[in-house]
Amino acid sequence: MFLWGTATASYQIEGAATADGKGPSIWDTFSHQPGRIKDGQTGDLACDHYHRWTEDVALLADLGADSYRFSLSWPRIQPDGRGAVNRAGLDFYDRLVDALCECGIVPAATLFHWDLPQALEDEGGWLNRNTSGYFAEYAAKVADRLSDRVGLWITLNEPFVHMAYGYALGLHAPGRTLLIDALPAAHHQLLGHGLAVQALRAHGAGQVLITNNCTPVRPASDSPADLAAAGAYDTLHNRLFNDPVLTGSYPDMSGLGVSSMPFVLDGDLDVIAAPLDGLGVNYYNPTLIAAAGPAAGLPFEAAELTGHPRTGFGWPVVPDGLRELLVSLKEGYGEKLPPIYVTENGCSYPDVPGADGVVEDLDRIDYLDAHIQAVDAAMAQGVDVRGYYVWSLLDNFEWAEGFTQRFGLVHVDFASGRRTPKASYHWLKRHIAGR
Ligand code: FCB
Repeated sequence: MFLWGTATASYQIEGAATADGKGPSIWDTFSHQPGRIKDGQTGDLACDHYHRWTEDVALLADLGADSYRFSLSWPRIQPDGRGAVNRAGLDFYDRLVDALCECGIVPAATLFHWDLPQALEDEGGWLNRNTSGYFAEYAAKVADRLSDRVGLWITLNEPFVHMAYGYALGLHAPGRTLLIDALPAAHHQLLGHGLAVQALRAHGAGQVLITNNCTPVRPASDSPADLAAAGAYDTLHNRLFNDPVLTGSYPDMSGLGVSSMPFVLDGDLDVIAAPLDGLGVNYYNPTLIAAAGPAAGLPFEAAELTGHPRTGFGWPVVPDGLRELLVSLKEGYGEKLPPIYVTENGCSYPDVPGADGVVEDLDRIDYLDAHIQAVDAAMAQGVDVRGYYVWSLLDNFEWAEGFTQRFGLVHVDFASGRRTPKASYHWLKRHIAGR
C-alpha cells in the first residue's frame, strides 16, 4: 500500500515549552539567544499543537491521510535526556497515537527531529559518543509504550542538516561553528541510529527507517576544480549518511581533506548498517556547487542554480530533481536499497487569507502536482516508493526563519491559533481520494 501523508516536527508545532514537566531542548535555549532567529521568534507557543492536537488530527482525517509523520520531543519524555520517563510527556504521544489509529491513520513517529535535551548538550551533545547510547535507551522506553500502534519508526531526521547547520555552521541549535570538525556529530548520530534500531526491534517495533535529506549535486561548470568540489559536496551531504547505513562503510573522505576518522571505533559500522525496512528521503531541491577559494574553510561553495522558479524561501523548484534523485539511489545502491518513503517534500509561500478567508495557494498546488508526478515517473523507472509525505500539515516555526516561511497545507494565524485549510489542502484531499 502507498501511504499519503503529511509531516511535522515537535519543536516546530507543539509549543508548551515547559508544560507538564518537559525539560529544555537545545532549540529552547538557542531560540532565546538574541539574533539567532528572524524577528526574535521562538517555538514557545508555535501552533500550540500540544493543546490543539485533536483539531489537527481532525484535519488529517478530513484530508484522507493514510499516515501522519510527527516527531517526539525527547526532553518531553526524558527531561534530562536520560533516566526515568516523564509520564505526562509520553502520555501526550500515547493519546495522539490512539486518536490517529481511531481514524485509521498510520502513525509514523520520528524519534529525533533536532530538539536534543539541553542536559545532553551540556555534555557535548552529539560530539559526545555517550549521546548515542542515551538515544537508544530513550528509543527503548518509547517503543515499550507505543510500538503496538506506531506503524513506521524513523530514528533520525536529516542527520546531515543537524550536523551541518547545528555543528558546522552555527545556523541552527546548538549553534556551533566547527566546520569539518563537526564530523563526530555525524558519526555519533549514525551510531545512535544503529543502536536505536536494535532497541526499537527488541522492544516490539515493526517498520524502522532513517530519514536523510538528499540532494542531487550539480557542478557549477565542467572545470576539474568544480567537478572535484561537487564530488566532495555529494560525499558530505549524501554519501556520508547513506553509505554507512546501506552498505556498512563510509565513503572516501579525502576530497574533504579528511584522511582518518578516529572517532569511528571497531564494530560501529556493523551497528550502523543494521537492516532497515525503508529509507526516508526528504527532497527540496538540487544543489549547484563550485570550488571554493584557498582561504575558505571548506573545499566547496554553493552557487546559484538559475533558470527555475523559486519558492518563497528562494529555493529553486525542480520537480525532476526528485525523479533523478530516486532513480540515482536505486542505481547507486541496487539491491541494498530498501523501499523508499518520501518523508518530506513541500514549499513555502507567503500565503495570506483573502477577504473571504480563502488561501489560494496555487503555487503550492503546482509544486505538489509536479513533484508527485516525479515520484510516479521514478516508480515507472522501477524505484520502489511506498509513501509521500507533504511538508507540512501546518504553517509552523521554520527554525532560524521563525514564522516567516509558511509551508503548511493549512494556514495558521499565529496570534489566535486559528487553522484554515488552504486550496492546496482541498486539492490534495481530492488527489488522495482519486488515487
Ligand atoms: C527540512 C526539515 C523540516 C523543515 C523543512 C522545510 O530540512 O526536516 O523540519 O524545516 O526542511
